[in-house]
Amino acid sequence: MDPQGVGPEIHYYMIRGGVEQKNTTVWEPGTISGEYIKTYGHYHVGELSETYIIAYGQGVALMQKLVEDANGEMIADEVAEFKAIPVITGQEIFMPAKFGHLLANTGQTYFVTIDDSPVDFEDRDPTSFPGHADYSLVKKMRGFAYYVVEHEGKVALKKNPLYKSILKEDLGGLPVIN
Ligand SMILES: [Fe+2]
Repeated sequence: MDPQGVGPEIHYYMIRGGVEQKNTTVWEPGTISGEYIKTYGHYHVGELSETYIIAYGQGVALMQKLVEDANGEMIADEVAEFKAIPVITGQEIFMPAKFGHLLANTGQTYFVTIDDSPVDFEDRDPTSFPGHADYSLVKKMRGFAYYVVEHEGKVALKKNPLYKSILKEDLGGLPVIN
């Protein structure tokens, strides 16, 4: 949300175990200019879904599916469907194919998830972004259609002004601030 914002050097850590061993992600707690620490967010390349288990903590999952043009290419600033889902320890969350996804840590502790995404160990640099995921649209749009922010001590959403339209949305009962 705020490119000039100051926060921890590393926002989250991943251990990539792939389908067999699962992937573990650990988020730092805290905010950057009021935005809760989150994962970068990505779309899967191809028909790949993913299940996340919330192992510890409290967070908000964001999912968004973009409108596609006549050639099936995603339109970066037009959202067909957006969902925000508050989650806590023990919950499972399904990311359907085509839905870009990210999670933000809204708690006071580390936030930990386990997911079943495949990992390509042939990647030249195993710590770099994996081949199955597309981060470029999220980078271009500087995040998803809403940011997860702290407002008066509570979790809220703030619209990302770069998006032109959202056709359908379910904000999970979270308030929207300006
Ligand atoms: Fe993913």
